Amino acid sequence: MTADKARKKAIRARVAATGDSYTRARRKIAGSPGRDFQPRRVAVFGAGYIGLVTGACFAELGHQVILRDVQPEKIRMLQAGEVPIFEPGLGDLLAANKDRLSFTVDAADAVRDAEVVYVCVDTPPTASGDADLSRVWAVIDSLKGVSTDRLAALVMKSTVPVGTGERVRAALDDAGLAHVGYAANPEFTSEGRAVRTFLRPDRVVIGAADEESAGLVTALHGGVDGPVEVMRIADAEMVKLASNALLATKISFINEIATVCEATGADVEAVAKAIGMDSRLGPHFLRAGLGYGGSCFPKDSRALRVMASNTGHPFQLLSAVIEVNELQPRRAIQRLKNELGTLKRRRIALLGMTFKAGTDDMREAPSTVVASRLLAEGADIHCWDPLARPGEAEPWTSATRHASPVQAMTGADAAMVITEWPQLRQVDWTAARHAMRNPLIFDGRNLLDPKKMRATGFTYIGVGRP
Ligand code: UDX
Repeated sequence: MTADKARKKAIRARVAATGDSYTRARRKIAGSPGRDFQPRRVAVFGAGYIGLVTGACFAELGHQVILRDVQPEKIRMLQAGEVPIFEPGLGDLLAANKDRLSFTVDAADAVRDAEVVYVCVDTPPTASGDADLSRVWAVIDSLKGVSTDRLAALVMKSTVPVGTGERVRAALDDAGLAHVGYAANPEFTSEGRAVRTFLRPDRVVIGAADEESAGLVTALHGGVDGPVEVMRIADAEMVKLASNALLATKISFINEIATVCEATGADVEAVAKAIGMDSRLGPHFLRAGLGYGGSCFPKDSRALRVMASNTGHPFQLLSAVIEVNELQPRRAIQRLKNELGTLKRRRIALLGMTFKAGTDDMREAPSTVVASRLLAEGADIHCWDPLARPGEAEPWTSATRHASPVQAMTGADAAMVITEWPQLRQVDWTAARHAMRNPLIFDGRNLLDPKKMRATGFTYIGVGRP
């Protein structure tokens, strides 16, 4: 490919990933003349959703990136030009920037020439609910015994409890790495829009104890379209946890309003729309449904509550938010049971399995709770999802997967919309009604038009809809 062709391809990839106009993308693209920019050598530890997007986007910004992961299979795929996860625009971005990207399982290899090390490893909860930071400490261990003369800073993108930065600083000092700066740069990635949110974020949050580290991380984001907020490390750590907790609060709040709507005859969709028109409240995260799932909200809200509990503070508001969320899928099953009398040997179609549309991610998906509850009630589960990768575990090993929504609904006693996949709006609902044994639909995402569904002959139940 000629340099000109490669450049045009890179511009098109950026247009597709960010929604930028072609002219804007051309101006922003790495190597564009006139950009005040210093390319850096960045090592990204962890090639999961966050690490992959971070690495691909830094390469897109013009940096030389090496991605390191402990899973050899994942690294082999990446080296072969395959993308181990589904994330719109990510494959194009990796391909367009392949000259600036390399992949390794060898930590020493990754660190050797790095000027910046980004930590993008997972921090799952331990038995006490505290964050398991063992993978973070492993990254610091890998800095020992290799030449780190060029290394200017270690940057934390993983979600960690407030105070972690201080502990990492002490660990670096103890390891003879006092010359390595430290910064917190929490991610606010929304899956399905991850590349776009990295390159055009609402804000970039940088926590640092020294000006050099803050300046370095700010400069790394040169070419990113969004304001940069520099603050203390502890503040940056808290911004991440508090932002997710507030978003989760909005969702549980509207789900509570939905429950009251069901009991009083109001329609939560009309209510949420008008609430959202108040500029002080905003229209986002007011969609009633089966509750939030995914890799962040459930984990981060519990982590913040545990962190508060460890200081002796019972975070009651957050406890209520979590409880409401845990109830949502259970209430859905109860409502289905009320309609059908019993769920025993009933054939139930689940439409959608992922925790939201536009991703293949099943982490903490409400569908798993719904399916497990249905199994516990003795139901027979038939499901459809265009991307889900549920793994070889219950409840999914007991469910039958189908290639289309109508196939999943054939012979069903009820269908449940679990994920707001746009494909569900295109379903031939007349055909579905004829294919079902009993035309009952529970719309767990308020995706469908109740009037149309009823006119087609369905018994329609939504969340918070009369
Ligand atoms: C979220 C945050 O948005 C992101 O900033 C953070 O870094 C990680 O967590 P993500 O998990 O990708 O991102 O999904 P998001 O689109 O925020 O949705 C989270 C969950 O809330 C989904 O299960 C979604 O279905 C649910 N949700 C969202 C609602 O039930 N109602 C809403 O109004 C919005």
